[in-house]
Amino acid sequence: MENIIEVKNLKKSYKNLTAVNEISFCVKEGEILGFLGPNGAGKSTTINILSTALKYDSGEINFMGRPIKADMINIKKNIGIVPQDLAIYEDVSAEKNVKFFASLYSLKGETLKEKTKQALEFVGLYDRKDDKPKTFSGGMKRRLNIACAIAHNPKLIIMDEPTVGIDPQSRNHILTSIKKLQKMGATIIYTTHYMEEVEEISDRIIIMDHGNIIAEGTKEKLKEAIEDEKVYVIAATNTDNLKNTDFFQIEGVKKVTISKNSVEVICLNTVENLDKIIITMINKNCKVSNITTNTASLERVFLNLTGKSLRD
Ligand SMILES: Nc1ncnc2c1ncn2[C@@H]1O[C@H](COP(=O)(O)OP(=O)(O)OP(=O)(O)O)[C@@H](O)[C@H]1O
Ligand SMILES: [Mg+2]
Repeated sequence: MENIIEVKNLKKSYKNLTAVNEISFCVKEGEILGFLGPNGAGKSTTINILSTALKYDSGEINFMGRPIKADMINIKKNIGIVPQDLAIYEDVSAEKNVKFFASLYSLKGETLKEKTKQALEFVGLYDRKDDKPKTFSGGMKRRLNIACAIAHNPKLIIMDEPTVGIDPQSRNHILTSIKKLQKMGATIIYTTHYMEEVEEISDRIIIMDHGNIIAEGTKEKLKEAIEDEKVYVIAATNTDNLKNTDFFQIEGVKKVTISKNSVEVICLNTVENLDKIIITMINKNCKVSNITTNTASLERVFLNLTGKSLRD
């Protein structure tokens, strides 16, 4: 697979704050790249730079083998951006919204009309083309936001949290659309705070934190790092009686977190020690009511790397 984007040592600061700290990465042609990170990690800043909407301090960005600064107009034509904050006009019809954005990419006349129709059909809003977005649900507005970004058939589509705060039906529609766009040949960079979406659609993942890239790879590769671990989540009463050190004499125990109504114990996968863990708890007068075992998940990879859950 060819690289559609190559980023080298990209840096961007806002006054004293380094939002993007000399990051380097590639985006492969035809892939869906999940771009993850906690709030303030620098995802939107990076994405806005790639879409040419934001200036950067230093570094290099090549789009289809050429520096983006060399041919800004032509490159813009090949990129579609779905911004984190909705960029639609509430008071003009859905169709006029799409036409307006598509016309910025020099589409005219019959082509403009046809591409607008296709984009609205694609997001399932053609039957609402004459209605104003102010009458739409949150999910419909998000779908219109996507139609505005894709009408000019860009090679690269960048989506910044396209499914935030919407109903499950619209979310499914959007996820299916993203996969369809990929089948039609587009490359997609995608940010979200929903890990199940990443599991479902991403071919590869980049994780950012504090302006740096802290992990990158396929889901399988990222999970390998924690495959030798399992996590017991044990619901119990009287956990006040417990200390972390009570568990460390048990073979295979790596980390213990005691909360009010539960105890989480991270263990080596290869050691059978659940009985000893439970006995330790019972000996301290805890009443155990439930046990769940979690094996490697992307959510845990993310938690291990950033200390936060993806959706905080
Ligand atoms: N226009 C701006 N002026 C000053 N600081 C900014 C600006 N935009 C972003 N920042 C700061 O840069 C850092 C990175 O922000 P960015 O919006 O890129 O994060 P993000 O990963 O997209 O977060 P989120 O998940 O909340 O959308 C944050 O500390 C943020 O406060
Ligand atoms: Mg953001």
